[in-house]
Amino acid sequence: MSVIATPEGTRDRLFSECQDFCAAQNKLTELFRGRGYEEIRTPEVEYYDLFLQSGNPIPQEYMLKIVDRSGKLMVMRPDCTTPIARVAATKLKTVPLPQRLYYNETVFRSGAAHRGGSSEIPQCGIELLGAGGLEADVEAVTLAVEALKTVCPQGFHIELGHAGLFRVLADQMGMSEPQVEEMRALIEGKHFAALDDFLRPHREKPAYALLSRLSRLFGGTEVLDEAEALIGSQPELQYLRELSAALAAAGDGEFVRFDLGLVHQIDYYTGLVFRGYAQEVGAPVLSGGRYDNLLGAFGRPAPAVGFAVVVDLVTSGSTIQDGTGRLRLALTKGRLQDQTVELLERAGLDCEPVRHPGRRLVHPLPDYPLDAVLAKAPDVITYVEHGVCDLGVVGKDTILEQSGSPFYEVLDLGFGKCRFALAVREGTDFYGTYRTRRVATKYPNVAKRFFAEKGMDVEIIKIEGSVELAPILGLADAIVDIVETGATLRENGLVPIEDVADVSARLIVNTAAMKLKKQEILDLIAKCQSGLERETPC
Ligand code: PRP
Repeated sequence: MSVIATPEGTRDRLFSECQDFCAAQNKLTELFRGRGYEEIRTPEVEYYDLFLQSGNPIPQEYMLKIVDRSGKLMVMRPDCTTPIARVAATKLKTVPLPQRLYYNETVFRSGAAHRGGSSEIPQCGIELLGAGGLEADVEAVTLAVEALKTVCPQGFHIELGHAGLFRVLADQMGMSEPQVEEMRALIEGKHFAALDDFLRPHREKPAYALLSRLSRLFGGTEVLDEAEALIGSQPELQYLRELSAALAAAGDGEFVRFDLGLVHQIDYYTGLVFRGYAQEVGAPVLSGGRYDNLLGAFGRPAPAVGFAVVVDLVTSGSTIQDGTGRLRLALTKGRLQDQTVELLERAGLDCEPVRHPGRRLVHPLPDYPLDAVLAKAPDVITYVEHGVCDLGVVGKDTILEQSGSPFYEVLDLGFGKCRFALAVREGTDFYGTYRTRRVATKYPNVAKRFFAEKGMDVEIIKIEGSVELAPILGLADAIVDIVETGATLRENGLVPIEDVADVSARLIVNTAAMKLKKQEILDLIAKCQSGLERETPC
């Protein structure tokens, strides 16, 4: 049978969709050309080694790979900047710097299946090569503002951060590299409570005060004031002030905000980092920064700054509800539902509609601007990831299984506590054989990562229902599953032999909603926190 469908993560574009798309591209490219930027097009495939050499942080499993006739590994271009740096350091080597280049190209990244994401991401962006310092950063950010003015008429803002700030603070903590990476991930993911726990043993260190606040420091210039009050004058903060003053002088002050918790790709970016958020769009529509080491990796050391607009996001229309003044919270149905309702009630919210949901799925609360949506656990993540719900309550088990989804995990709600465990039939020696073992689980990704970290080769079988049956029936040697009281294991002659991870309910927030509805969301988080503090002793 011939294959007549498009591959996962790709789609056809038809008629008005093409027109909207081209209109946005044309507006952006006209703007870039008008500012003296020249077009560059690089191949859609590049050697995989190019990205290795560049120190590009895109995980290799996200790259779509092809093998050429000679057996060399190639990738569908996973980002535009690295190939452009390659050209600048080779073909354009003798062209004097600075060089101003723009591109209108698609990047390819393989995402998780059936998550509504795209593997083809059309980007329109610029690279300003061979220009360092404030003037070049002002040029890049003002151009980013102009770009969003042309394609986001509904309103937008740009958030500035500094990759160097985290590095400086982390160096003062005297932590190991894995600890620094753990802290970075907690800050980037705005895991407020988990970051507090992680940093508590380090509270004597001078950088503690600012690091423990970093994920919360997003907003206007008040975040720079707070940061300086905590750490004193710091060159990176001073730089952001100067940049913001220069942007204000250029007439762009109203579009500029800050997020000192922008700590993604810190080994790649070397200074300014920035992201653009448009009203009603559930993900950043623009991303950029300064990467002064990339050209050097190809033998032509030179500073550089650039950004890309995600064209699909600025043409897809609204993805998040905005301007209604109401928040939408997705609740996991079943085990976590009652405890979430109890928490919200302790926080002072009237949850009567959720207590008696009937067959309705959306429940406006009477005395608080919040609509509660009841959903299955994986759907809670999907709704929050896409921004159709601003917040969600979901178990860490589901988060771990769907890892890689972009959202902020702001609070550990403390209920729904259980653990992932590896369990076997009583009396069996799971590790005492060279035979490839079979493991049954409802959580194949969690199980795969657990055994990969051990360097163990196992065959994983996905089971939908009571996974305990698999070893009883002889289908598997072990299971990786949730254990709460341990009763299910005991009653079926199984014993846990190793813990895989702890699990509890988490409050998650859409990354763009956090920026676009900051005050409402922070108020609700504070209410949940107060509900947690008022927990009734058992
Ligand atoms: C979970 C899990 C175990 C059981 C463990 O299943 O998969 O089977 O709970 O709980 P215990 O340690 O308290 O016995 P769940 O009841 O959620 O139903 P499911 O098997 O239909 O997913």
